[in-house]
Amino acid sequence: MARAVPEVPTPIGRSPLFQAAMAAVSRIAPLSRPVLLVGERGTGKELVAARLHYLSPRWNQPFLKLNCGGLTDSLLETELFGHEAGAFTGAQRRRLGRFELAHRGTLFLDEIANAPMTVQETILRVVEYGSFERVGGSETVEVDVRLVAATNEDLPSMAAEGRFRADLLDRLAFDVVTLPPLRERPEDIEVLAEHIALQMAQELRRDVFPGFTPRVLAALQSHPWPGNVRELKNVVERAVYRTEPGHKVEDIVLDPFASPWRPLAASSARSDGAARRPMRPYDFVAHINDIEQDLLKQALATNAHHQKRTAAFLGMTYHQLRNQLLKHGLIGGKPVVPADD
Ligand SMILES: Nc1ncnc2c1ncn2[C@@H]1O[C@H](COP(=O)(O)OP(=O)(O)OP(=O)(O)O)[C@@H](O)[C@H]1O
Ligand SMILES: [Mg+2]
Repeated sequence: MARAVPEVPTPIGRSPLFQAAMAAVSRIAPLSRPVLLVGERGTGKELVAARLHYLSPRWNQPFLKLNCGGLTDSLLETELFGHEAGAFTGAQRRRLGRFELAHRGTLFLDEIANAPMTVQETILRVVEYGSFERVGGSETVEVDVRLVAATNEDLPSMAAEGRFRADLLDRLAFDVVTLPPLRERPEDIEVLAEHIALQMAQELRRDVFPGFTPRVLAALQSHPWPGNVRELKNVVERAVYRTEPGHKVEDIVLDPFASPWRPLAASSARSDGAARRPMRPYDFVAHINDIEQDLLKQALATNAHHQKRTAAFLGMTYHQLRNQLLKHGLIGGKPVVPADD
């Protein structure tokens, strides 16, 4: 039976920074050399790994992935290289690893920085000689696999500190493509948001997507997007499904956890002031101040920074809210004492 031709994943973006990264991807794709993808979380490393594969002559061969984080050393080793029957208790049959299964294709090793040194050594051998032994076996297996690895760590400094094998880094980094964070390419935010919203509207079986209001677009532009495109995707998809069909998106929720009733974190892991304050001597005024500030920030986030709506949400007048925001330095200006307060 004929195999359906898979679609080449096409990342969206028109900023010069993004276009330059995509040009590098297209240049390196046809070569059978390793590529290292570097970028913050959610910048599109996995999407680009797939694009590299489907733009290469290996496109109709296997494309396999393995995340090197979160597995024990021995589990990662067997996932990569497979094992022979009887290699360890419970290993009743021979099992092929990702390298063997990806023969003639591409293997995407995600979070490569988390691969333990012993596994790094074996990967290095496969890159160098194209061969390895299954766990518990002595037969040499030869493979032809193109490696694409990804990381959000700085591997050269890890290598300098002895936490990553410098020789493996040299081999993996035949070419390095660094994906820029979304905050450095604001030109991409609107096109990405439109694209994501259209897809979401289709998923919801809506005929049209009427767009975003200018205020929502401004809020999308001014957010720093620490979670990059994945975060944008969540925010936009949430906004689209919460909007009545046929209406423009006029509300976004940047932090779905934002709520005045959000439970306080028990540990000091919390980044804002309230939980980190030492218990004794107790500064009552500072503590109340922190709580007020938290509530204001969360209410603002819940109401997409729309001040009138935030005021109503908190049961305050608009001027009361403005004065509170001024008091906590959340906006600039002078306090107002209107007649209706
Ligand atoms: N330029 C883009 N165009 C369209 N969608 C994108 C783009 N970049 C990322 N995405 C989408 O954003 C989400 C996150 O991307 P991806 O999983 O590739 O990021 P990542 O860099 O691998 O993240 P992590 O480091 O957290 O694993 C995916 O749903 C992906 O399809
Ligand atoms: Mg990823």
